[in-house]
Amino acid sequence: MDKLVIQGGRPLEGTLPVSGSKNTALPLMAGALLAPGITTIENVPNLRDILTFANILRIAGAHVDYDPAAHHLTIDASRISHPEAPYELVKKMRASFYMLGALLGRAGRARVSLPGGCAWGPRPVDLHLEGLKTFGAEIDLEEGYVVARAPGGRLAGGRFRLEPSSVGATVNLLLGAVRARGTSRIENAAMEPDVVVFGQALQRMGARIEGLGTPTIEVEGVDQLYPIPFRNCPDRIELGTFMIAAAIAGRPGSPVRLTHADPEHLGEAFLDAFRQTGCCVDVGDDVLTVTAPETLRPVSVETAPYPGFPTDLQAQWTVLLARVPGEGFVTDTIYTDRFKHIPELQRMGLRATISGNRVSIRGGQRLQGTKVMSSDLRASVSLVLAGLIAEGETHVLRVYHLDRGYENLEGKLAAAGIAIRREAYDEFAAPSVPEDE
Ligand code: EPZ
Repeated sequence: MDKLVIQGGRPLEGTLPVSGSKNTALPLMAGALLAPGITTIENVPNLRDILTFANILRIAGAHVDYDPAAHHLTIDASRISHPEAPYELVKKMRASFYMLGALLGRAGRARVSLPGGCAWGPRPVDLHLEGLKTFGAEIDLEEGYVVARAPGGRLAGGRFRLEPSSVGATVNLLLGAVRARGTSRIENAAMEPDVVVFGQALQRMGARIEGLGTPTIEVEGVDQLYPIPFRNCPDRIELGTFMIAAAIAGRPGSPVRLTHADPEHLGEAFLDAFRQTGCCVDVGDDVLTVTAPETLRPVSVETAPYPGFPTDLQAQWTVLLARVPGEGFVTDTIYTDRFKHIPELQRMGLRATISGNRVSIRGGQRLQGTKVMSSDLRASVSLVLAGLIAEGETHVLRVYHLDRGYENLEGKLAAAGIAIRREAYDEFAAPSVPEDE
């Protein structure tokens, strides 16, 4: 297994490039199945989740080619012979459940494994199933699989309200609705940029969709969708993560440049909270510059659907609060138990108390490097951030979680002045026994 080893206390300086968005690339890949022919997607990040999803598409019968150096993906969906997504792949990545809407939309039938649990608690898919049923799907659960069928080969369409709003269910319902016989209406739809960019790609493929980026999306089904060349957008969560890195580890008064970025996709709540910490943010077209102040201010945040503060940035924010003298709070209203990083940060000296879906941080004390364990993607990047500002060496174990969503993080940070390296280690090796004197 690999770990990242970080020597703390070096300033972050220069430029960090932002890769393509993981959470937009995945629905774009699922959407390619709707169009017989060859779809190309540019700016696809070289990540484990992308490779997993490419394999899922291959099982369904698509030919998929990925050039990781060029970040170029080609999907030939001329023939979809096997409308199925097996447990072995779905269990690795919940977004594989997009295959349900994609296969129903393309083939009128699907057999997709239920995703099961997640590191930070239950993440149900009831809305995906109820919504697709409302749009006309006949759905049975058989031995851990969802077996779905569109009578007559195409969904009918319908009207469904998401409660709560859900990114994944909005994507699945769009995948199902664009080729339905009738019209569909998704209420309380997700407004996240990932969904909007995906919907715009569907529009370019020939779909008739109105209301993207608003809570009500209306779709008039069409007979045929066409493959297109498409450029994926930059990853907003990686951008936010780098902004926090610049705030806590940048030299006060020295700007850090984040390139290939789309600052609009961050949403107002994150940008407001970030500015309130005292950081200076300069927003350009596809560049954002962060200048850290002498002393950061503690700013409490509460996650909410877009344009609220993203849940995918709350773990990183706890490290920012750790850096700042005073007390601050992080409240997650999307997930009730997404704090697996806190006990690991406490091993580094963080003073924090969790109560329910809220954690209070009393910051300002220097963290100490030690061995810490990743539990999921955003938790693991928060441990790397903690390593930047800790005394001594931090070893972040099980970085396969990080590799799901951050491309070449160590290479990017090393090029910006951070002492960080990747090492293989044996998770089950016994510690050496000290010899008797
Ligand atoms: C997406 O997950 C993202 N994943 C997550 O990012 C992100 O944390 C999440 O949206 C919230 O922004 C991808 O885009 C691949 P939801 P998703 O359905 O779609 C409840 C990362 O780190 N809900 O919007 O699975 C659910 O429990 C990942 O990159 C239901 O109750 O999240 C949650 O409270 C992790 N029933 C809320 O909705 C359902 O059927 C929002 O979840 C579906 C969801």
